[in-house]
Amino acid sequence: MRFQVVAALIAALWTASALSAMQAGQAKAGGSTTWSGVYTEEQAKVGKTAYVKHCSECHGEELGGDGFAPALKGPEFLSNWSGLTVGELFDRIRISMPPTNPNDVTPKEKVEIVAYLLKEGGFPAGTTDLPATVDALKGPEFLSNWSGLTVGELFDRIRISMPPTNPNDVTPKQKVEIVAYLLKEGGFPAGTTDLPATVEALKAIKFESNKPGR
Ligand code: HEC
Repeated sequence: MRFQVVAALIAALWTASALSAMQAGQAKAGGSTTWSGVYTEEQAKVGKTAYVKHCSECHGEELGGDGFAPALKGPEFLSNWSGLTVGELFDRIRISMPPTNPNDVTPKEKVEIVAYLLKEGGFPAGTTDLPATVDALKGPEFLSNWSGLTVGELFDRIRISMPPTNPNDVTPKQKVEIVAYLLKEGGFPAGTTDLPATVEALKAIKFESNKPGR
C-alpha cells in the first residue's frame, strides 16, 4: 500500500506546468495535477465549514483577505504557490495557521480546507478525496519499507509506475525533485549538491534509517 501514498502525493502535485496550462485556459489531461480532480465536492463542502469557522475571520468569507491577511484565491495566491505542491500548501497551513494556535484545527480539517481552496481556485473536483499524505510519506513505516534499498530504487518505482494512470505525466526531473522532498521530510539533511538525475547515480545512494555512529 505504500506506493499508493506515493501515488497520492504525485497525484496532488501542483506544478508550474499546471499553472501555465491554466493560463492557457486548458486543462491538462492525465492524473498528476490539480486539473485532474484531486479532491471531492463533498470534501470541499466540509472544508468550507471549517474554513468559515477557523480562517474567514482574517482571510475573509470570500477568501479575498482583509488587507492584513492575504487572499487565498486569485492570481496572486496562485502565483505564490506556482511550482510548489498541494502538500506544501497543506504543510504551510498545518504548521502555521491559524497563527495564534495551529493545533486548534486538526490535520484532517486542514486537508478539507485545502480541498475547499482548490475548489475556490477553479480546479475541478473528482471522485477521490484529497489524501493527507504528508505524514504518510514519512515516519518509521515509510523509512523501514525502504531501509537497505537505494534512493535509485525508490525513484525507479515512482518513475515507472506513478501516477498509475499515466507515469509520463510527471517528468523524471520532477520525480527526482519529489524524491528530494521525501528525503527532506524523512529527516535526512540537505547538502550542497542536487540529487542527481540518473538512475545509476541514485542507485549509489543507500537508505539508512539509523544515523551514522549509532
Ligand atoms: C488571526 C488571523 C488569521 C487566521 C485566523 C488565519 N490566518 Fe492565514 N494568514 C494570516 C496572516 C496575517 C498571514 C500572512 C502572514 C503569514 O504568512 O503568517 C496568513 C497567511 C496564510 C497563508 C499563506 C498565503 C500565501 O499566499 O502564501 C495561507 C495559505 C493561510 N494563511 C491559510 C490559512 C488557513 C487555511 C486558515 C484557517 C485554518 C488561516 N490561514 C487562519 C492570518 C490568519
